[in-house]
Amino acid sequence: DSADDLLRVAELVRSVPDYPQPGVLFRDITPVLAHGESFATVTTELAANAGEADLVVGVEARGFLLGAAVALVAGVGTVPVRKAGKLPAVAASRSYDLEYGSATLELPAGVVEPGTRVYVVDDVLATGGTAAAACALLADAGAEVVGFGTLLELAALNGRAKLGDLRIDALLNA
Ligand code: PRP
Repeated sequence: DSADDLLRVAELVRSVPDYPQPGVLFRDITPVLAHGESFATVTTELAANAGEADLVVGVEARGFLLGAAVALVAGVGTVPVRKAGKLPAVAASRSYDLEYGSATLELPAGVVEPGTRVYVVDDVLATGGTAAAACALLADAGAEVVGFGTLLELAALNGRAKLGDLRIDALLNA
């Protein structure tokens, strides 16, 4: 059943100590995506929550893989939110703090119309800085973020607090 499927997904998440810097326990979902049944499980579960959305946005980099699959199952398109400097034309840009360091995210120009209902997908919700920046970019573009879906929420870091009353769908907690 679905609980057993998610248990297997949880077993496939790899914890890497001291990456990308000392003291950070990095959660790598790559083995989940590499396992066909688990990839299908997480995609199906997140897509079920994306029902009211017109578009799925995936956040670089593992969020691209998850977001594209969720979009396909949900029957909508997908748009990547990228780290700074990767896009030929930018609609909006936001800087944010990471658990380690800081970064800037950018939304591509010309692909998100005002009023679009967007479901944002990323692999991990940690401090929430990334998710909040992605949502802010979409607000800048006049889109309506209807929810945030993630494979893994690191609840102790309280990333939810940065997302206000946005609906958050987290398949696993650690
Ligand atoms: C990781 C993860 C999320 C973000 C979550 O990305 O994929 O995008 O951190 O952290 P936060 O909630 O504290 O903002 P990472 O920075 O490792 O980038 P990558 O996916 O491009 O490797």
